[in-house]
Amino acid sequence: MHELKNKEKLIIGSDTFVPMLNEEVLQNRIRELGEIISNDYKDKVPVFIGVLNGAFLFLSDLIKNISIDCEVDFFKLSSYGDEKISSGKVKLLKELNCDVTGRDIIIVEDIVDSGLSMKYIEELIAPHKPNSMRIASLLIKPNSLRYNIKIDYIGFQIESKFVIGYGLDYAQKYRNLRSIYVLSEDGEK
Ligand code: IMP
Ligand code: MG
Repeated sequence: MHELKNKEKLIIGSDTFVPMLNEEVLQNRIRELGEIISNDYKDKVPVFIGVLNGAFLFLSDLIKNISIDCEVDFFKLSSYGDEKISSGKVKLLKELNCDVTGRDIIIVEDIVDSGLSMKYIEELIAPHKPNSMRIASLLIKPNSLRYNIKIDYIGFQIESKFVIGYGLDYAQKYRNLRSIYVLSEDGEK
């Protein structure tokens, strides 16, 4: 159970989360990204490949703002387990169903932290010889990046703090929150 204090702070056990990006801010930026991507791919039919579970809300809102023909598929990865820090390992839990050879691929992620998951996906897709491969991530923690990857479309750059909501989970919960909340580290209640 979580408790919303003053409709603002989110108390989860002994942790306090505070609002970071509200619904309007998220949706405005996603609309902008949709317009930019639609323009960049105007003579193509890109395949958006969402990384489950975290990217499901971002992917669905993003493609509602895509004005060209496109296709959608999903990977399912697991890396965080039930914790607030990455396990440092990635497992592939669901393969792609589509053939990516010769296609224009846009990988859609909720958040890039160390970059391990993205590196893993790039290495999985590259041998299938797509025509092009780009990455769109709603959030990126630039100070946590440890792998050499290029994120082509970035929603927001954030500090290296744990966040939840809008697809992002803590022990599989809170993905359903419409805003993104950040763990408050100053012990404020
Ligand atoms: P990376 O492989 O270290 O880049 O971690 C990326 C994955 O870890 C993301 O796809 C998320 O599922 C998860 N992740 C990273 N940071 C957070 C966070 O602050 N909250 C929730 N999940 C996160
Ligand atoms: Mg993810």
